[in-house]
Amino acid sequence: MTAQQEVEPIDYSQEPNGFHRKDFIHTNQIETREQLLWILNLAKNLDKLFAARSQEINIKLKQVLNGFFIIIAMYEGSTRTDTTFVAAGLKLGAEVLNLLGMQQFSSAIKGENLPDTTMVFNAADADILVLRHKENDSSEVASQTLRTYESHTLEINAGSGTASHPSQALLDVYTIYEIFGRIDNLKITFVGDMFYGRTVKSLAEILARLGKGNEFTFIAPEGLQMPPSFVAELAQYSVKIVEADDLSYIGSPDVVYATRAQKERMPADLAAKFDSSSFIITPEVMDSIPEGAILMHPLPRIDEIDPAVDADPRSVYLTKQMEAGLPIRGALYMAMLLPNPFDALSKAMGNE
Ligand code: NCD
Repeated sequence: MTAQQEVEPIDYSQEPNGFHRKDFIHTNQIETREQLLWILNLAKNLDKLFAARSQEINIKLKQVLNGFFIIIAMYEGSTRTDTTFVAAGLKLGAEVLNLLGMQQFSSAIKGENLPDTTMVFNAADADILVLRHKENDSSEVASQTLRTYESHTLEINAGSGTASHPSQALLDVYTIYEIFGRIDNLKITFVGDMFYGRTVKSLAEILARLGKGNEFTFIAPEGLQMPPSFVAELAQYSVKIVEADDLSYIGSPDVVYATRAQKERMPADLAAKFDSSSFIITPEVMDSIPEGAILMHPLPRIDEIDPAVDADPRSVYLTKQMEAGLPIRGALYMAMLLPNPFDALSKAMGNE
């Protein structure tokens, strides 16, 4: 069974809100441990309220973001990220416009550039723009555009190329913190596409910088290893890094974080010859890792995890990890839009 520990009983609600009226485009904007634990704590409060499955509570929660308008613009496929950004907005009472398939169905197909399209969301008076786009610098470009025009619209990066996926990192850290009660002294073995994957980079960045004494093993097939510049960036923190190209290096981790090969981002010849067969997490691989370890995956899964592993109680990708998306994204909206989201939540619940 997964080692379930009590989360540190610290009240972070009195910490200042470092997210208010700022875009959220990279994990490195979360400058301190307290700020990270503050947002996890806010998400935990929401999580408990959602988990009550109470119509009365759900009606009260709708006051929290009542009067705010969120536009979600997805230029790449999305299932979990999109659904939970939509659901979190609706459950907190915001109005949400969900624009999937932007690459095909927006003026991008006519050749419009991202800055010009970004100004449409400003003109539509969105309070928040949630943006997913294939370019690595897309969220910076959109943010610069909005700030240049002193727009009221704030941006959340919901995945930018191979570079960054900060809200996924938050929900991954939330999952780890809920299960282990800490963000320190963790051994994490990342398996799969380190080169094109963005979730691994965002998670590794935040845990290396804000955690203490963590150890990362990056196991990737030839050609899909972590970019050396990124490893060098991580090396400035107190993190131990091992790079390997074989699953036998999986070691004795607390967390195995599997990812798919991002074939749509690879040059055609690499995608065609890519063979993932020796990187699959099978029941035998699970037998080799500790009883108290967990298996994570940002999903979608293609063939990296044998479905026979799903029933292992250590597999959290279809349950705890995926379920963390809703409270984390709700907490992000609240933190960006409300000066004191803890008070707002308390007031909505009728506690003051
Ligand atoms: C990931 C992404 O889009 O980066 N999915 C997600 O948001 N959970 C991972 C992937 O596409 O492989």
